[in-house]
Parts: sequence; C-alpha cells; structure tokens
Amino acid sequence: MRISRHSPAPSTELNFELYFVTEVLKLPSLHYGYWDAGTEPDDRLDLDEMRSAQARFTERLLSFVPPEVKTILDVGAGIGDNARALARSGHRVTAISPDRNHERYFEELDEPDIVFHPSTFETFESSGSFDLILFCESHRYFDRRVGLERAAGLVRPGGYLLVSGMFQNSDEKPFPGDFEIADLPYVRMAAESGFVPLEISDITSNVVPTVAIVHRAISDFLEPALRFAEAYATARSPWKARLLRLLLSRQDKELARILRKLRRKTDPERFRERYRYATILFASR
Ligand SMILES: C[S@@+](CC[C@H](N)C(=O)[O-])C[C@H]1O[C@@H](n2cnc3c(N)ncnc32)[C@H](O)[C@@H]1O
Repeated sequence: MRISRHSPAPSTELNFELYFVTEVLKLPSLHYGYWDAGTEPDDRLDLDEMRSAQARFTERLLSFVPPEVKTILDVGAGIGDNARALARSGHRVTAISPDRNHERYFEELDEPDIVFHPSTFETFESSGSFDLILFCESHRYFDRRVGLERAAGLVRPGGYLLVSGMFQNSDEKPFPGDFEIADLPYVRMAAESGFVPLEISDITSNVVPTVAIVHRAISDFLEPALRFAEAYATARSPWKARLLRLLLSRQDKELARILRKLRRKTDPERFRERYRYATILFASR
C-alpha cells in the first residue's frame, strides 16, 4: 500500500489521534491490538510487536463473525485492515469513514469485494440491508443511541451487530473490580434497539500494552519533537518565531490541551480503572 507524503492535516481532536497513529507511528491499523494475557507494558514493547498485536486482534475479531454472514457494513472502517481481512475470508464489505485521510487507503485497494463510502454513519444511505454491522472502535464516534438505532434499521432481520471497543461507566467513574460487561449501559441501550448479546469478551488487559506504548510515544517522541522544532525556529530566527507564537497562540494552547488529554487518556493505570475494552456480538431480534 502506497501512502502519499503529504496527508491532509487532522481537523478535529479525534482525527488528531488517528492521524498520530497512521501518519506519525505509521501503524497499518487503527485499533488497539491484542496482547497475550500477562504481557506487561514495559520498555521491550516496540512498534513491530504492536503491528503483530494488531494483526492478532483482526484475526480474533473475525472469529466472532457467524459463519452464515455474507454482507458486512464496516462502520468507521479506518484504513481498511479489517475490511481487507473480511473480504479475504469471503465477505462482501461496505466500508464507511468520513476521514479524508482514510479515503485514499481505500482508493489504493484492489479489492472488488470492498466498496468504500466517504460518509458518516449518521448520513450513510443504503437501499439494501446487511447480515452484520461492524463497529470496531467506532461506536464512540457518534451518538450511541443514534448509532444503535441506525444499525437496527440497516441490519437484516435475524442479522448481527458486532461491537468491539472501549466502554466507560455511566458516570465515567472507575469500575468496581467485579463489574460485568453485561451490565454496561451500552448493552442496556442496545437491548432497547432490539439487539441481544450472544457473546461477550472482556479483553481490557489484552489491550493495555498498546495504551502504554502510545502513552510513551507521546511523552518520549512527540512532545520532545515539538519542543525541538520550537527551539530550532527560535535559534534560527528569534523574531519570526516570536511573531509565529503570537499569531498561533490559540492553536498552541489547543494543541497543548489535546496532548494533555491524550496523555491522561493513555495513562495505563487510569485506563485499567476507568475503561473496559470488550468485543460483543449481538443478534438482532
Ligand atoms: C479508531 S478508528 C477505528 C478504525 C477501524 N474500525 C479499526 O478497527 O481499525 C475510528 C473510525 O471511525 C470513523 N468515524 C469517525 N466519525 C464517524 C462517524 N460519524 N461515522 C462513521 N465513522 C466515523 C473514523 O474516521 C475512523 O475511521
């Protein structure tokens, strides 16, 4: 897969995170990956291991797709690695993502069983229905209830919804140690849209090493690189650098806020306490 040198700059906070993963870390996938139980997030973990973890995750995700499923709507398809794996295993995939950076990954695919629409889920239109709707780390990008209701309208009767991603407690407080995924507010909300859980798998501890790697990449590489660029500009041209700082002070503050938030979100200890990462296969009633 070829990637052009200059990618459109990220325009929103969520895009910023995705841009960091594809354009800075150069990872071939946007999901968290799957680490063997007991892998400790220490200094030995590197980006190659992360790529393997992402490949393991995709393989595992596919194992949740029931055998009779032929057509899949991949909502928030990222840069297409799940869609490619699904097409390779005999599925016809309709993939959607509104991110301009993602569109070109699909343009470069030579895969007749994948059709891409540069669209949000909220505005996506289809004349037919799908055997399975996939939200792989995308259910948090749109209103949860709207997403579930749209999924209920697009899945064929007796079809499936497969959701894999992070969940928070209703008050965003830490989860009690004995918390069951079946008690998530999202699962209750899904039931209201006609989806009953068939299979639930809590893989929080299997994704934490990725959280730790991203956390380290921000503080060990991204932030020092930004400081270096600023120091270089100041040393080469102090007046221009000062003027730029003045002109871009709002954007500077915004970037600092995004980085602070990202660092907090990827703090592994905080993540363990406040997030559950689960894969849930629902059947549509
Ligand atoms: C974290 S990425 C996950 C990508 C991919 N599913 C994966 O597992 O690697 C989230 C995806 O949701 C997309 N997205 C953001 N807002 C969306 C919306 N309103 N409707 C559909 N997709 C959206 C993003 O552009 C991105 O492709």
